[in-house]
Amino acid sequence: MCGIVGYVGKKPVKKILIDGLRELEYRGYDSAGIAVLQNHQFSLFKAVGKLINLEEKAHSFETTGFSVGIGHTRWATHGKPTELNAHPHLGNNSYVVHNGIIENYQELKTMLIGQGTRFLSQTDTEVIVHLFEFHLKTAYTPFEAFTQTLHELSGAYAVLLVNASVNDTIFFAKHGSPMIVGRNHEGETLFGSSDAALIGKCHEVIYLEDGHYGYASVEGIALFDDKNQAVNLNFTPLSENKLSAQKEGYRFFMEKEIYEQTTVLSDTLLGRLRDESIHFEELDPKLFDGINEIKLCACGTSYHAALSASYLLERHAKIKTSVEIASEFRYREPFLTPDTLFIVISQSGETADTLESLKMAKKFGLKTMVICNVDNSSMVRLADASVLTRAGIEKGVASTKAFATQVCVLWMLSLFLANERKTLDATEIRRQIRLLRALPATVAVDPALHEQLRRLSKRYLHGHGFFFIGRDVFFPLALEGALKLKEISYLHAEGYPSGEMKHGPIALADPELFTIALLPQHKLYEKTKSNIEELSARDATICSISPLDFDKADDHIRTKSTEDYMLEFFEMMVVLQLLSMEIAIRLGNDVDMPRNLAKSVTVE
Ligand code: G6P
Repeated sequence: MCGIVGYVGKKPVKKILIDGLRELEYRGYDSAGIAVLQNHQFSLFKAVGKLINLEEKAHSFETTGFSVGIGHTRWATHGKPTELNAHPHLGNNSYVVHNGIIENYQELKTMLIGQGTRFLSQTDTEVIVHLFEFHLKTAYTPFEAFTQTLHELSGAYAVLLVNASVNDTIFFAKHGSPMIVGRNHEGETLFGSSDAALIGKCHEVIYLEDGHYGYASVEGIALFDDKNQAVNLNFTPLSENKLSAQKEGYRFFMEKEIYEQTTVLSDTLLGRLRDESIHFEELDPKLFDGINEIKLCACGTSYHAALSASYLLERHAKIKTSVEIASEFRYREPFLTPDTLFIVISQSGETADTLESLKMAKKFGLKTMVICNVDNSSMVRLADASVLTRAGIEKGVASTKAFATQVCVLWMLSLFLANERKTLDATEIRRQIRLLRALPATVAVDPALHEQLRRLSKRYLHGHGFFFIGRDVFFPLALEGALKLKEISYLHAEGYPSGEMKHGPIALADPELFTIALLPQHKLYEKTKSNIEELSARDATICSISPLDFDKADDHIRTKSTEDYMLEFFEMMVVLQLLSMEIAIRLGNDVDMPRNLAKSVTVE
């Protein structure tokens, strides 16, 4: 995903910008650029691919004395990863870098073209710089033009803009995408879209809020809110220690990553939702020609994402879908037909069994695709097509945000195919796109809920086992809930389809058997409720998760009433992640690095 850096000060600016961009590299990008303003003159460097290409281009460029600079790593959304589409984007006398998406860019572009503006790129970003220069013609000051520009933008953005007439200034704004401004004892001001870019360079920072905008110059920082009122500069200290700083105040990376799900899901959706359809710029629709079946293959949490997707692909796209555990698939001499699209799912893109399965499918001549979180990983390099999940680096061994983004991509894929195959009507696709837009808000952690789970966790530290139960997509979610608990608490837990409990496991029911029951309002509510009642009648201890009251439960976690089962799925996913984590914390375990487990399993 895109990254932003900015600098106002006297040191050699190129190195500061590129070092900052390097700290944001892990987010993934496909082009990069920097623009430096000194003595009213701009120097610009852009390159496709890795930062090393940018460094080579800017090889002989050095500055001495005061300058301002902005830099960007771009993850293509609007327009291909070319140099022209890379940021910074130029007006006549100004440059801009931007993260996020300008939703009304088409409308603004049409207006600006009508005024005689020439656009060079296919990006939404370019409208910002031209709109700014359009206002500059009539505004009293560049800052007034910048403010007017912001009023006309809708969508999500973090923006840095520099204009040659104000030699010492960077204009900035934040609305929906992160932006941090920091300063140091040497009087320098730096910007970053994540504090990773500022660690070691600033001793204090302001995490800008939505609606904040202003400018930074040699004289300092001026900050305003969305009502154009001046805001006090409330700096917070920035840790020197990279690792603890990266935890941003959370106790564990896993906790941070659970809380981050709202941001990373926004990133996953970015540029992929149209009003009427799903758009995957990276997918050639020909990939699906002649395909009558989909085989999903993965390990661990990614396997659970695959299982969840199998319900959605068959339901929405009416395409036969099967799911394989990679370590089984490799050796069971599977019968494969050429009309099958083989999709592997992997956070790391390196898991040995999944990688070997992908190689096997290729050897059989199947078309292949990977849904992955790591660009340039072995699977991404090998598969015919890849869709990146954009979860950012995941440090906790127990996967959380990667799972959320995998299911999100697979849900989008089911709608993409439903559209191609005309298996859902336009109204239903529009409705589901509306649901997808609601995902980031759905997974935002409610502090009261987190506190309830923290308190509840003390009652679930013993027992002779946990059953996580659910139906439909809530069955794979139950599997994932049980896996999370096992991984970090070392307690025995199983996921089971609710309807199967009476075919064996119910024999275990007693007060020491803990059942975590997923009871969504909008998917098979009555059926699941009966299954839970059967367990409750046999004295199992029940913890139900549902938006509706359930009087047979010993503990009840109330989720928000939502209009669709998929939103309930994501809400319950957060509950299960937090519950496991709180249990593991009480047990004194190393949540981020549980015993015996590895983040990336590159041996079979
Ligand atoms: C390991 C990790 C799990 C992960 C699994 C598959 O077991 O601990 O969290 O789900 O590998 O990894 P992948 O990178 O292929 O998704």
